[in-house]
Formats: sequence, C-alpha cells, structure tokens
Amino acid sequence: MFDRSIKIAPSILAADFANIGAECRAIEAQGADWVHVDVMDGHFVPNLTFGPAMCAAIRPHIKGVMDVHLMISPVDVYLDAYAKAGADVITAHVEAGPHIHRTLQAIRSLGKKSGVALNPGTPVEAVAELMDMVDLVCVMTVNPGFGGQSFIESQVTKILRLRQMIGDRPIHIEIDGGITVTTAPMVAKAGADVLVAGSAAFKGGSVDSPAPYGVNIQAIRAAAEAARA
Ligand code: DX5
Ligand code: ZN
Repeated sequence: MFDRSIKIAPSILAADFANIGAECRAIEAQGADWVHVDVMDGHFVPNLTFGPAMCAAIRPHIKGVMDVHLMISPVDVYLDAYAKAGADVITAHVEAGPHIHRTLQAIRSLGKKSGVALNPGTPVEAVAELMDMVDLVCVMTVNPGFGGQSFIESQVTKILRLRQMIGDRPIHIEIDGGITVTTAPMVAKAGADVLVAGSAAFKGGSVDSPAPYGVNIQAIRAAAEAARA
C-alpha cells in the first residue's frame, strides 16, 4: 500500500467549523487525498481547537485517511481516545514529552499508523532513533498553533536530510505549514510526499461553492509533481 506519490492533505483548521461535516465531504469530493485534523490544547501550542469528540463526529464524513495531528502535551493519556475516534494516522510531537518512543509504541499497539512531528527549531536528528517506530515524519514549516503563517524556508534542507535518513523505509514525509503553489515544489523536490495545506486549499470556496477547493488542490498537486519530474 505504501507509496511516495504526492498526497494533498487539506487541514480543516481552515474550514468553516459551523459546517465541519459538510466541509470534510466537500474537500474530499474536490480531490483531497487525506484530511488533516489539527488538535491543539492551548498549552503545547498557544491556540485551542477541538478534541476527540469532534474527531469522532467528523469520522463518518471522511471516506479516506483521517490524519490526526496532536499538538498537545501530555499526549499519552489521550491516544486511546483518538484511536477510538477513528484516526488512521496519529502524529505526536517529539517536543511534547520525554518519552516519544513509548508514545509511538502505544500508537502502533492501538492499530494506528504512527507519526512524529518536528517543530522548526528541532533538528532532524531527534528522530534518528525512531526510524523503526514511525510510519510518518511531519516536518513543521511554521511554528505550530495557527494557520495562514509564512513558510520557513530553512526547513527545506531538513527535509533533504530526513529523506536521506529514511532511505528505503516505508515512511511518509509530511510537510505542514505555509504550503502553497509556490512552496509545494520546494518540499516535493526535497522528498516530501504528503503536503498539508490549510488556507491554500480552502481559499475562495465554501460548502455551497466548493469548486475553488478542487482548483486549489489541483494547482498544489500539479506544482509539486512538476518539481519532481
Ligand atoms: C499549524 C497546523 C497546520 C495548519 C496549516 O499549527 O498544524 O496544519 O493548519 O495551515 P496553513 O496551510 O494555512 O499554513
Ligand atoms: Zn497540522
């Protein structure tokens, strides 16, 4: 099942929260490969979104991969709740606690794909000992907490080093933050395969007028694929 094709993962952080189920259906109908769900606790990051009950509520509205990005600390005590809510991928931050190895073991033992995320200030070496524990490494290209921030270009060399570190292992490289038609080529060329896009995916559309979502997703995908060719 694993492949390195470009996958666009719109973040519902940029969706209309009052229409969240319909937004999930609309973004998938318009070509999203995965749906990225940003969970924030107001402690690990300076913003709050939603918790496992919301994830469980949207699950029936997502046909494909539900990609849950946990920006929370502590994280271990909540893993079971997000697994029960129906996440397919659960990603925890390496900076969220002293026991990321245990966290990743726990995610896999719940039968989920395990992800580890790196803040922009964290060196790629922080995941060097986790290569046999992870299905996905998420390189944050903004400081987590908010959508609509500018892409931090220094992270591109980190992606290149991560790609080398991964070698032939079946590990996705996901990039999160500031992905647009301009930045997608840089990260795709460096080795990323999962591109999270919040504002750039949802801009200009709505559940009543979803066609712009499809135009946005297709433009990001085409830019990324062209950079790889
Ligand atoms: C940031 C979140 C991102 C964010 C991306 O903390 O993890 O997923 O929603 O939004 P854009 O694409 O607008 O930077
Ligand atoms: Zn995210």
